[in-house]
Amino acid sequence: MKFLVIGGAGYIGSHFIYEAIAEGHTCLAFDNLSTGHRELLHPQCAFVKGDLLDFVHLEQVLRDFEPDAIFHFAAFALVGESMTAPGKYFSNNVLGVHGLLEVIHKARKKPVLVFSSSCAVFGQPDKLPLSENDTKKPMNPYGKSKLMAEFLLEDYAFAHGISSVALRYFNACGAHSSGTIGEKHDPETHLIPNVISSVMGGAPLKVFGNDFDTPDGTCIRDYIHVSDLAKGHLIAAQYLMAQPEGVKLQFHLGTGKGVSNLEVIREVEKQSKQSVPFSFEKRRLGDPAVLYSDCTQMKEVLKFQPSSSSLENIISTAMHWHGTSKFIELGKKKRGKTGKQETTASL
Ligand SMILES: NC(=O)c1ccc[n+]([C@@H]2O[C@H](COP(=O)([O-])OP(=O)(O)OC[C@H]3O[C@@H](n4cnc5c(N)ncnc54)[C@H](O)[C@@H]3O)[C@@H](O)[C@H]2O)c1
Repeated sequence: MKFLVIGGAGYIGSHFIYEAIAEGHTCLAFDNLSTGHRELLHPQCAFVKGDLLDFVHLEQVLRDFEPDAIFHFAAFALVGESMTAPGKYFSNNVLGVHGLLEVIHKARKKPVLVFSSSCAVFGQPDKLPLSENDTKKPMNPYGKSKLMAEFLLEDYAFAHGISSVALRYFNACGAHSSGTIGEKHDPETHLIPNVISSVMGGAPLKVFGNDFDTPDGTCIRDYIHVSDLAKGHLIAAQYLMAQPEGVKLQFHLGTGKGVSNLEVIREVEKQSKQSVPFSFEKRRLGDPAVLYSDCTQMKEVLKFQPSSSSLENIISTAMHWHGTSKFIELGKKKRGKTGKQETTASL
């Protein structure tokens, strides 16, 4: 099948493309490289540099390529930044989806749409685990922008027969098993790459809060390996294509269980055989103590079960991508010569 992957040069999009090409699909990545990287693209993936908000360009790409499905990964995703620059988020994350739906509506052949949503649509959960139809009270413009985009999907499905599925993920993590692609955000706000960076001589890690009502006092989150996410997208697209025209579906992609910040740190220490320099800081405003997904729909309807999301595999693939063992080995050699640690974060 032919897939147009908007935001394909980003972390999750690039892993999706590797998975889709391995399954025999043809991919075209459309990306403005605002946060993505050309070098993360699979060598067999075609690339068009373009902006989702340039609807004329997008229309032409759809006309020329005639995809069977469009995968939308193109969004800004920094919660903190969204609080101070909400316009940037509503423009890219909401108007981008609106324009895309209009372009699909005008297309001769209507592709289905697979949309990256987020658990941020829920805000503070009333109950756990979080299932698809639980109350949504997003607490920041990022979460609101994802929910607004989901409303658009719903209304365009009803009015114009555009089929879509919103996949809400919790915490994407890990890297491709080959070690060729992985997480590369700037700034990096996600826990796992920051734990790894601190063990490789980067800034010491800040752990926000150790007084939560959890067994070890730190936050608990649902971590799903990015390759599992990629597979989940393919399965969701196939499922969507088998449905009657004009449906809007939503599924949670997660593991259904939580891992604490300290458990992540301990796993990195175990695998790197180094201690992670970290300090406990005050809780961040609005950080829920525990978040994890109810994956019943994913398992029973999509018949999908993550297979790469053990904490051990998440950390080992992420460390492989970041070159942690090579870095530590080099650090040891340097220490051997000079008697003191000479680490740089640039490896
Ligand atoms: N990373 C996570 O843990 C996580 C969790 C939940 C949801 N999500 C969602 O998944 C999606 C992908 O996240 P990611 O971590 O891969 O982010 P990313 O920043 O690595 O990737 C986003 C990609 O979209 C591109 N892009 C952004 N705006 C664009 C535009 N206007 N036109 C063309 N390209 C544009 C960027 O250049 C980048 O390549 C986002 O929608 C995000 O909200 C991510």
